[in-house]
Amino acid sequence: MHLETSSIAAAIFIASEVSGVSALPKAPEWWKPRSWKPPTQHRFQNAELGPRPQYLIADMDEGWLKDRLSLCSDVVARPSKFSIGHRGGACLQFPEETRESIEAGTRMGAGILECDVAFTKDRELVCRHDQCDLHTTTNIVATELGSKCTVPFTPAKDGAPATATCCTSDITLAEFKSLCGKMDGFNVSASTPEDFLRGTPSWRTDLYATCGTVLSHKEFLQLVDSHDRDFTTELKAPRVPMPFNGDYTQEKYAQQVVEEYRAAGIDPSRVWLQSFSFADVAYWLRADPAFGRQAVLLDQNGDLSGAFPAAVANLSFYKDAGVQVVAPPLSFLVALGEDGEYVPSTYATTARKLGLKILTWSLERSGPLAQAAANGDMYYSTIANGTHKDGDMYRLVDVLAQQVGVQGIFSDWSATVTYYANCFGLF
Ligand SMILES: *[C@@H]1O[C@H](CO)[C@@H](O)[C@H](O)[C@H]1NC(C)=O
Ligand SMILES: *[C@@H]1O[C@H](CO)[C@@H](O)[C@H](O)[C@H]1NC(C)=O
Ligand SMILES: *[C@@H]1O[C@H](CO)[C@@H](O)[C@H](O)[C@H]1NC(C)=O
Repeated sequence: MHLETSSIAAAIFIASEVSGVSALPKAPEWWKPRSWKPPTQHRFQNAELGPRPQYLIADMDEGWLKDRLSLCSDVVARPSKFSIGHRGGACLQFPEETRESIEAGTRMGAGILECDVAFTKDRELVCRHDQCDLHTTTNIVATELGSKCTVPFTPAKDGAPATATCCTSDITLAEFKSLCGKMDGFNVSASTPEDFLRGTPSWRTDLYATCGTVLSHKEFLQLVDSHDRDFTTELKAPRVPMPFNGDYTQEKYAQQVVEEYRAAGIDPSRVWLQSFSFADVAYWLRADPAFGRQAVLLDQNGDLSGAFPAAVANLSFYKDAGVQVVAPPLSFLVALGEDGEYVPSTYATTARKLGLKILTWSLERSGPLAQAAANGDMYYSTIANGTHKDGDMYRLVDVLAQQVGVQGIFSDWSATVTYYANCFGLF
């Protein structure tokens, strides 16, 4: 019983139960940012995997893989670097890129945690998946800072959707820290800023979206280091012309990430920098090889239909340029065999032949898989015809691990990958 529950909180609970709408707090003053306190709790040493892996296994077709995975249902799990916490590692249920998502991903055994970086107006690095996603991932439009947005909130009218565009570069670090992280999404028919905040897909939840703690990159380093895990920072593409504010060039931005690791005393062997831009990876390789050595080239060039053979052909170009790790989306690495089984794609076999290490993204972003496959979800696009249910997820993880030979999988729910890694001894 929670007798201390205030009548206001009880009223919100009842209201949302009755109307069936989102549980997000309605009035802006009910969003209360938690202040950043450096981590002081004990290091999370074991991994807690919860009920989801078992749920997925129970849904699998009978066979050796199901039997093998079932045998591991009682193991004491440990963290694994095969399990990479995407946007924190728990954003299936927790606001992405927040302290809460990272702590939950760490709990679920992610051995590597991700922060995507963007820069603020005063050139500080913060964790956000896109420089201009504050209007869908925070409560900014419902705060006074909403007026500073590149495009302030405009209500839906006469069939035109509600809009806003809010960028980290619109505000300072101190202003950014006053925001609350929420689940990514927005309400296209919103007539008020508060309604604009609602738009979480039904298979995610607003249960933990009560005010996610947004993080600077420096805070991210402190948090992940306190649990002794590895780091992956992605340099997000600027959405403003560079150089920004005079002399802030792309290279200064790329170098700033490295300098923050160095200032925090973190060994480069624990750091996996990433970018979709080959120029960024080439910069790190050239300017700071200690950190460049493990830099990850994110590859989605084959996304455009018809470009896939060229993306495969490009792999040798990347290899010759010194890139050691490539990370394409799940769909690039698998194809369907004659009996509807998952098999490695030509991209996968080519990357392996060239001796490139492979990471891939992102598991657990698609919701229920039958629905995802039917709706043309991009992560399952190459195997949609062989994908029928949630239990198929471990067939995919198994082919990626055993046949493609990936070294790690980014996931929005780290437990799913950590379970497999523990079961098969991948650390
Ligand atoms: C979206 O906005 C409209 C108009 O403000 C509102 O009626 C509707 O309830 C909102 N949807 C959600 C899920 O909150
Ligand atoms: C090949 O690599 C270059 C350098 O990153 C890139 O500009 C080009 O788009 C790539 N082409 C394909 C098809 O991947
Ligand atoms: C899946 O099956 C449909 C219908 O048989 C076919 O049109 C489509 O090309 C197939 N997709 C893939 C990726 O094989």
